[in-house]
Amino acid sequence: MGRTPTIGGNWKMHLDFEAAMTLASDLRNRLGSVRGVESIVFPSFPYLRPASQRLRESAIAVGAQDLHVEAQGAFTSGVSAEMIRSVGCTHVLIGHSERRSVFGDDDGLVSRKLSVALEADLIPVLCIGESLAEREAGQTFSVLERQLNSALRAHTTGAVARMILAYEPVWAIGTGLTATPEQAQEVHAWVRGHVSGLLGSEYAEQLRIQYGGSVKPSNAAGLLLQPDIDGALVGGASLNAESFAEIVRAAR
Ligand code: 13P
Repeated sequence: MGRTPTIGGNWKMHLDFEAAMTLASDLRNRLGSVRGVESIVFPSFPYLRPASQRLRESAIAVGAQDLHVEAQGAFTSGVSAEMIRSVGCTHVLIGHSERRSVFGDDDGLVSRKLSVALEADLIPVLCIGESLAEREAGQTFSVLERQLNSALRAHTTGAVARMILAYEPVWAIGTGLTATPEQAQEVHAWVRGHVSGLLGSEYAEQLRIQYGGSVKPSNAAGLLLQPDIDGALVGGASLNAESFAEIVRAAR
């Protein structure tokens, strides 16, 4: 099928400036010329420009963790898609569960953010996932269905051609609990099937779906071996250059 694995490092609101720049340089040294795997880091807004300068002409792409839907104006603290592009980013996270749960991004806003990212020619990494309560109530697939339908219904396959999807079960994020490779594979296969219903099987077959939630060097290989897991979106373990590099190597 030839889906190139893609590993994202979501730095969230971690690291002071110096540590972030050291990490970027360290990653460049370890991964700058790795082929066959796509690596992307998602530093905080103030670090985007210097991180992209450090990673220029390396194999590591830089993305933002969020964007504001408006292009410009009186939106204090907002950061537009064009601003993100202008500092060297190629990617942007859309609908991360922390945006959804902490900042109140609902399905409607996530869908608008996805459109704005696509219009700005940023590659969106659209995040979906169920909470522990939803999983325990047997609602995993209905939650994912709602999130996918809301985000993708408005788009043609051409518009979302370069999009990456990230399945991040909320109960596995930052908790040390990881979905087993079988649990994750079951959901990934379902997601691909659902996307196939929405946008066609040709599109679904080339769509890369990352798994996220306590991915570490010790569990990455097992997850990445699954046929429908095409990469990982890594939080905590991406803050250490060697552990992130190990996960990238596991994807190769
Ligand atoms: P952890 O790897 O720290 O669980 O975070 C996952 C995540 O939210 C990546 O976006």
